[in-house]
Amino acid sequence: MGLFSRKKDDGGEPVVRPKHIAIIMDGNGRWAKKRGLPRLAGHKAGSETVRRVLNWCRDTDIRYLTLYAFSTENWRRPAEEVSGLMKLLEGFIEKNEAELLEKKVRLRVIGRKEDLSEDLQKAVQRLEEETASFERQLLIALSYSGRSELVYAARRIAEQVKAGTLSPDEITEGTISGNLYAPDVPDPDLIIRTSGELRISNFLLWECAYSEFYVTDVLWPDFSEKDFMDALNAYSRRNRRFGGV
Ligand code: IPE
Ligand code: IPE
Ligand code: MG
Repeated sequence: MGLFSRKKDDGGEPVVRPKHIAIIMDGNGRWAKKRGLPRLAGHKAGSETVRRVLNWCRDTDIRYLTLYAFSTENWRRPAEEVSGLMKLLEGFIEKNEAELLEKKVRLRVIGRKEDLSEDLQKAVQRLEEETASFERQLLIALSYSGRSELVYAARRIAEQVKAGTLSPDEITEGTISGNLYAPDVPDPDLIIRTSGELRISNFLLWECAYSEFYVTDVLWPDFSEKDFMDALNAYSRRNRRFGGV
């Protein structure tokens, strides 16, 4: 499915595309600070980058895109920034509804949905239902952390044990994978982080076991199509061994 397509003319190395890209969209605040603007202006500029990335993913035939938009730890930020971010997210869903439907992109939110406002929960649920049959997927991690996802999975598994439908010695890696927020989505092949930070910040802790990492110093609002293609090209040259030889 477009995963292995040859470069058109040069007959060179086959281009290997990731099936699933996950992005830690970082650096909005520093982008704004550099310009003497409020942090929210950086988040607004960052949300424009999101729209562009969706197009680049379509052009390069990426099937799954996961975006880290708001972590469970981000609730600790000043109230004004948090409420501004939530408004931006509501606006993003509203503004992009028609486009996601037209371009046939399935939207899913992963994270502690119960932390979101009722309005945002409703908007998310509606769009998730409307787009549920589409193959290409945009996953937005909202009030998400890898640890809280594992807590979520542990609770679900404990419920099954308690109900007598699962015994503890039947629990495998597949049981855990199968009880995460989006169990049918393959692990990310490539995780991109902008703004130069060399850390995972509680993102996809279970799923990143064999992901390739790509960090760029570019701040998220400045992340361009060239930066995106640089990441894809770097990925294409990686030698993934998964512990083998
Ligand atoms: C990323 O940008 C967006 C969110 C975490 C919501 P930041 O707001 O973390 O930007 P910096 O890291 O302060 O520059
Ligand atoms: C990670 O960025 C979370 C998101 C991009 C939503 P942070 O800016 O919150 O991470 P730290 O604080 O630098 O680790
Ligand atoms: Mg940050």
